[in-house]
Amino acid sequence: MSLHLDHFGLSAEPFTKEVEDQYLWTPPSKQESIDEIVEAIEARQSIAIFGEPGVGKTCVTRAVRRVLPPERFRLTYYHNATLGRRDFYRQLCLALGLAPSITAAAVFWAVSNHVEDLARDHVHPVFLIDEAHLLHQDTLDHLHILLNYQWDSKALLSLVLIGLPDLDTRLRLRRNRSLQSRLGRTFTIDPIAPEDTADYIRARLNAAGCDRELFPTDAIALLHEAALGSLRDIDRIATLCLRAAARKKRKTVDRDVVTRVLKQIGETRS
Ligand SMILES: Nc1ncnc2c1ncn2[C@@H]1O[C@H](COP(=O)(O)OP(=O)(O)O)[C@@H](O)[C@H]1O
Ligand SMILES: [Mg+2]
Repeated sequence: MSLHLDHFGLSAEPFTKEVEDQYLWTPPSKQESIDEIVEAIEARQSIAIFGEPGVGKTCVTRAVRRVLPPERFRLTYYHNATLGRRDFYRQLCLALGLAPSITAAAVFWAVSNHVEDLARDHVHPVFLIDEAHLLHQDTLDHLHILLNYQWDSKALLSLVLIGLPDLDTRLRLRRNRSLQSRLGRTFTIDPIAPEDTADYIRARLNAAGCDRELFPTDAIALLHEAALGSLRDIDRIATLCLRAAARKKRKTVDRDVVTRVLKQIGETRS
């Protein structure tokens, strides 16, 4: 067992990215996004979710998946956004359990048939494309066609595009107008607020079996400033702080420990 887990009586690494769905942290600020995204998908809309790296876009999407009833929604998740159009359709087939065809037209035909079959069974397919800012333009060019069933009269499929704010910029380009105009809503996941940082740290320590306040308020303030509201950065810095405090046999992770860690990783802003 790692020293810091032992020292602080933790049952597991608290700030790992392998957070299980049932332990996802859902404060009011996140719950609101989750509820609105669920509502949009239940209304069979296609949507886009933007946010800076590490603010929790993928985790929000996972929380959404937990809520949507599987008998009514079939979710397919992609993060291979760097693929070209042909590979994209091929992957789509594989994820849907269809035999990948050789030509783009055949793949498209297989996918559309499958989507229509699902519609007959009253199952609504939802294609989530994570890291969508990386999509090749020729894939992006084709996405709106996927949404265009039966002369655009029916929403047989919801696309959920998830990406950095660059995705927003790209979607606004004239070239991507057809796709953008088919998105029912867009959401921005904001960096978290200082009081959320405290709550997040507490929640994750709690999930790892610690109910003590390991990080005093002033230490959290410093950590928040350094992480700029990115949960991934909080994870990384908080883990280093726990290790440093354990090495020094401290009962809590005090401000001076955080200061030293930030200095070591060159992220101090003072
Ligand atoms: N709701 C959450 N509950 C628990 N941990 C979270 C949550 N949101 C984010 N995290 C933590 O922050 C990290 C980054 O979140 P992620 O959703 O991957 O960010 P993004 O997709 O915006 O880059 C995750 O690996 C996880 O450790
Ligand atoms: Mg992500």
